[in-house]
Amino acid sequence: MKITKSLNLPSYITFEPLEKIITLFQNRQVAVLVDENTKRDCYPILDKVFENAKLSKPLLIEIPSGETNKTLETCTHIWYELTQNHFDRNSILLNLGGGVIGDMGGFCASTYKRGIDFIQIPTTLLSQVDASVGGKLGIDFNGFKNHIGLFQIPSKVWIHTPFLNTLPQNEIRSGFAEVIKHTLIADKKAWQNLLQNNILSKNNFENQSNVNNQNDFWDKIVAHSVALKAQITEADPTEKGLRKILNFGHTIGHAIESYFIEENKKDNNTKPVFLHGEAIALGMIAESYFSAFLCKNSNQKFISPTDFEEIKNYIFIIFKDVIIDFRKIIQDENILQEITKWAKQDKKNAQNIILTCALQEIGKATFDIPISESQILECLRQI
Ligand SMILES: NC(=O)c1ccc[n+]([C@@H]2O[C@H](COP(=O)([O-])OP(=O)(O)OC[C@H]3O[C@@H](n4cnc5c(N)ncnc54)[C@H](O)[C@@H]3O)[C@@H](O)[C@H]2O)c1
Repeated sequence: MKITKSLNLPSYITFEPLEKIITLFQNRQVAVLVDENTKRDCYPILDKVFENAKLSKPLLIEIPSGETNKTLETCTHIWYELTQNHFDRNSILLNLGGGVIGDMGGFCASTYKRGIDFIQIPTTLLSQVDASVGGKLGIDFNGFKNHIGLFQIPSKVWIHTPFLNTLPQNEIRSGFAEVIKHTLIADKKAWQNLLQNNILSKNNFENQSNVNNQNDFWDKIVAHSVALKAQITEADPTEKGLRKILNFGHTIGHAIESYFIEENKKDNNTKPVFLHGEAIALGMIAESYFSAFLCKNSNQKFISPTDFEEIKNYIFIIFKDVIIDFRKIIQDENILQEITKWAKQDKKNAQNIILTCALQEIGKATFDIPISESQILECLRQI
């Protein structure tokens, strides 16, 4: 499939004011899933819309924030609340939060009474450009990310970039990793725009006020990124082929993320935990190196060493502190080996062969490329 650069959004995604979709809530029981942060910073916006429309207050279901709570225990709490409040099959769940709330709330809604409607209201940059689009839902299990889940397109995704105004700078930057990924796999021109764009320089990410309160700017970035992701997921909704390119940076990035999450559980938080997008940024450098230097396939061409340098330098400008921390940590050879082991658990693998994505050129990716454990080690050392 040729990925076009058109900005056509699927009908289930809207940037229009929430008032326009409020009819979806009329005459039904409505619950809103929040964590402590989105309850404080985002729910008041929703509450006002309900109040203005003279709708009765929705049931608020609050869960603790963070990836460590994306578990079956939290789902049990959500299902319990819906059950205790007699939510019927016509009821609707609004998932107000980042990717954790969206993935888990969508999973709970899709399984409660064999499935009730749900609306994703993503409030982080990562969930606006990525997690809320394409219908992947689920929870972590036994340390494995998104191990239990399903595909189900939400009734609506409502994207409202002013939610980003309260998002911490490191969370904005984490989401920006997925924006970078979308350009690298699908849109060379957008990549070149990123390189030239002043707002997204190192200095701007260091100054909170420069990345928040830029709603026109974020509207454009988010809409473009969502359109690219939507086009890819609509062509291959259940990830049998093309959709796998969205995993660029994730074979190695997920291994890094999972290793540190698990180590911290054992070690009582003595190691850093990388945010999802931070780990993916590291993974993108590693997998770009793999594409440029280790992909040997006579039928296909891959990015050049100069392209690799360009990618590495750009990601370094934005994620400098993360990269420097990571380089220090992996001076311990055992840690490198342990991270590599995590890549063996990746859902994309088949028959014990680790499969990854590679960049054929900037703006074009391919998938299901075997990568050995020794190659992963070599790539990790290039970060
Ligand atoms: N379904 C998919 O296709 C898909 C794709 C990518 C990632 N994901 C998943 O997304 C999750 C990561 O999502 P995330 O990065 O959004 O993290 P997150 O959901 O943990 O949110 C990050 C933090 O920001 C807070 N927050 C959210 N919105 C806020 C706001 N507007 N103002 C202030 N604070 C706010 C949250 O409470 C949380 O503490 C991972 O579980 C990952 O597996 C899913």
